[in-house]
Amino acid sequence: MISLNRSENSAEFSLEFENKVLKMIKSNFHKLSFYPEELEKEFIKNVAKKQGILENQIVTGNGIEGLLHLTLETFNKECTKLTILDPSFVVYEDLAKESGMEIQKISIKNNKINKNELLSTKEDLMIIADPNNPLGDKYLDDKFLQKLSQKGSVIIIDLCYSGFNINPNKFKNYQNIIFLKSFSKYEGLAGIRLGFAYGDSKIIQKIKDKQKKICPFPISALSYLVGMVALEKETGKEINFLKNKTNFISQLKEIKKLEIYDNNTTSILINLEKNKISAKSFYQEINKQKIMIKNPNTYPSLGPKKIILGIPSKKVINMVVHTIKKIIN
Ligand SMILES: Cc1ncc(COP(=O)(O)O)c(C=O)c1O
Repeated sequence: MISLNRSENSAEFSLEFENKVLKMIKSNFHKLSFYPEELEKEFIKNVAKKQGILENQIVTGNGIEGLLHLTLETFNKECTKLTILDPSFVVYEDLAKESGMEIQKISIKNNKINKNELLSTKEDLMIIADPNNPLGDKYLDDKFLQKLSQKGSVIIIDLCYSGFNINPNKFKNYQNIIFLKSFSKYEGLAGIRLGFAYGDSKIIQKIKDKQKKICPFPISALSYLVGMVALEKETGKEINFLKNKTNFISQLKEIKKLEIYDNNTTSILINLEKNKISAKSFYQEINKQKIMIKNPNTYPSLGPKKIILGIPSKKVINMVVHTIKKIIN
């Protein structure tokens, strides 16, 4: 089974990174006997140093999904209405429904957001991914974040795909805003389930208090050890992933009438408008060939002709392209 449905980064790690991780684990092996309180502090200290943030502005969690869950749990009682963009990462809606929140969707039209609309909506919580998933566009800048911060709502900015920037923005504090980051996509470490939220210290403190009550040690010592290596040393996957992506796109572009949209995420969007096949049939056919892709039902606002594909590993790119060619023709 080839999995292209979770936008994972399946490129290879560099040998140097692999060796550094093994060395880190070996030299800290004794720490596996204890709850990871000290490692959490050490990790937060390292993140703070690296990103120029204060330690009290950071909380760690089980990837961005774990942090979203925790944040909604934290604000569940005082927040009843959530604003999200449409389309956006499906998990936002799923988690909000589970928390019993009312969901308000703001449509993205022609790949653009209406900033005035976002500034004038009334809600308690807002989640925006930048870059957006599934469209891959970026919307936020300092001026807009300043304005959002004055709304009074708790604003969550999901930076899941921002790691691909060569020059990551230096941290800036905004009242009422927290940012979420993880090692899942850029570093290709989805398996360690390690992420962190940072920003407005009052919000971060509330999340920390909740975490201490419901799940005081959510991250394993092993994940912190791997994460600390990844903070210092590139995993090697970024470069290999971009090579695979470029190769995949150029091969797909050779398929007649297929429109490919490269974007800032770890997946690509394909428009089947000029082909006979619908997104739903394409999904069914490719699944039969044991290639898993996202069900187009997940993003109804993309319409019946758009599909989202993760990037295959180097070993299987040719095979995936061949399968797609057969389905399309
Ligand atoms: C926008 C967005 N946020 C968060 C996640 C999940 O991130 P994590 O692995 O850190 O939980 C994804 C995964 O596809 C995503 O697309």
